[in-house]
Amino acid sequence: MSFPTTRMRRLRRTGTLRSMVRETRLAREDLILPLFVVEGSGIREAVPSMPGVHRHSVDRVVDEAKRVADLGIPAVILFGIPDEKDARGSGADDPDGIVQRAARAIAEALPSLCVITDVCLCEYTDHGHCGLLSGQAVDNDATLERLARTALSHARAGASIVAPSDMMDGRVAAIRRELDANGFEEVAILAYAAKFASAFYGPFRDAAESAPEFGDRRGYQMDPPNRREALREMQLDLEEGADMLMVKPALAYLDILADARREFRVPLAAYHVSGEYSMIKAAGERGWLDADRAMEEALISIKRAGADLILTYAAAEIAERL
Ligand code: PBG
Repeated sequence: MSFPTTRMRRLRRTGTLRSMVRETRLAREDLILPLFVVEGSGIREAVPSMPGVHRHSVDRVVDEAKRVADLGIPAVILFGIPDEKDARGSGADDPDGIVQRAARAIAEALPSLCVITDVCLCEYTDHGHCGLLSGQAVDNDATLERLARTALSHARAGASIVAPSDMMDGRVAAIRRELDANGFEEVAILAYAAKFASAFYGPFRDAAESAPEFGDRRGYQMDPPNRREALREMQLDLEEGADMLMVKPALAYLDILADARREFRVPLAAYHVSGEYSMIKAAGERGWLDADRAMEEALISIKRAGADLILTYAAAEIAERL
């Protein structure tokens, strides 16, 4: 029954046919937009290494969240860039910290928008690492309490989902315990479960001013060649109480996403990170490729590999086009 009876081109002939047999679709509901929040007021400043991305002060971030909600995007994830940093990352769990104020303002103004917060210390520590230091190393167990208190302060401010991105062992359990002990049983955990030590975070570290002062994050983030280990990380986070799992970055890790889709029954998110976004934008600016098409193709590949949700800086532009 092969050629000439079987002709694969038959169903590709017209736009209508192609669309009828399309196996994967991108929907607005799949998208989560990351937002950077800075101190001050009236601020909307461009991030040079991420064309089209801005850092907003709390007053302006509410306007941006409204624009996003009006586009049909269901959720935003907040990253805070505080003015003051110290060794313990004290700003991370300050009830009046930058993320807490932003979360409160957005949750009040837009009750149906889902507010997700990134839980990590790296934006708040003067050394730029994701946890407390003991000498030159990040002390896993001492960091857990700081992370749990940070997550609790986000929940108190109105976050519906907290997303730990630090890669300490045991942090999902520590956060779940702290939330439950304080009456936040309904706040969900989206675990950055398989987060790799990636070169693709470069532009984010500019935007969030969170590059480590010394060393790198290889002591806690995963080694890119490891596939089985990613499944172990995800399994452990589920056992500790994660409601959803994330793979990060996305494009260079589609095999991990596909593995996770086969292995687990929970909602899966993928983070299309800053470098993945900016390289398409940069090539587009040079006229080397059609950035709009490339962006859509990248995002649909992430969905096809098994992601239910995609965190992407392109969420608003894609939602406008859908
Ligand atoms: C914080 C964090 C990072 C990103 C999300 N949360 C940076 C890092 O681990 O260095 C990266 C996001 C991006 O590149 O878009 N730990």
